[in-house]
Amino acid sequence: MDEISLRRWRRDDSNILAEICNDGDVQRYLLLSILPYTVDDACSFIEYAKRCESEGGEQCFAVVLDGLVIGSVSYTIQTGCHSNSASVGYYIGKRYWGKGYMSRALNLIIDKIFENPSVDRIYAEIFTENGSSARVLEKCGFVCEGTLRKAVVKGREVHDAKLYALVR
Ligand SMILES: CC(C)(COP(=O)(O)OP(=O)(O)OC[C@H]1O[C@@H](n2cnc3c(N)ncnc32)[C@H](O)[C@@H]1OP(=O)(O)O)[C@@H](O)C(=O)NCCC(=O)NCCS
Repeated sequence: MDEISLRRWRRDDSNILAEICNDGDVQRYLLLSILPYTVDDACSFIEYAKRCESEGGEQCFAVVLDGLVIGSVSYTIQTGCHSNSASVGYYIGKRYWGKGYMSRALNLIIDKIFENPSVDRIYAEIFTENGSSARVLEKCGFVCEGTLRKAVVKGREVHDAKLYALVR
């Protein structure tokens, strides 16, 4: 079948979410820095996602392959003079990398975001070293708008980031 879909997080996703996130390779280019990542950490995230769903803020979805949760994608509509922009973030379990799944999931979230007529721009900031994430964004039509020098601190290291955006 190989069907990719998105749905809201459920409390009974905590075990699979912990399994996906408890992996240094998955976290390497994420702002998330929790290792080991436990089922309790996953439960806290799912509660956060549910709060945001009802109160606003980051809108978080599980990426589902044929009924099985394999990753995460989220967006946040910005405020003030950036209120026509949405940021996106995503990850997928390592065993599912390189099969085109995140490109398909990102296309689904793009469609969802652009259902909101107020949004003109979707953007992502990625670590400069994250070649596969850059490729996903390019496959989905994003354009690199430049390098944000020394923009991200992860642990003790400072990294450059690349800014990618897709406009309506
Ligand atoms: C980045 C990530 C989401 C990609 O997911 P995925 O399902 O493997 O992505 P896809 O299979 O749709 O596309 C990956 C593309 O990157 C390419 N790629 C893989 N490694 C690469 C590298 N080091 N440099 C450049 N391109 C690379 C693949 O060949 C593929 O391109 P292709 O379809 O033209 O062959 C996944 O690797 C991941 O979850 N990484 C950890 C978390 C993360 O970095 N998230 C992004 C934070 S901004």
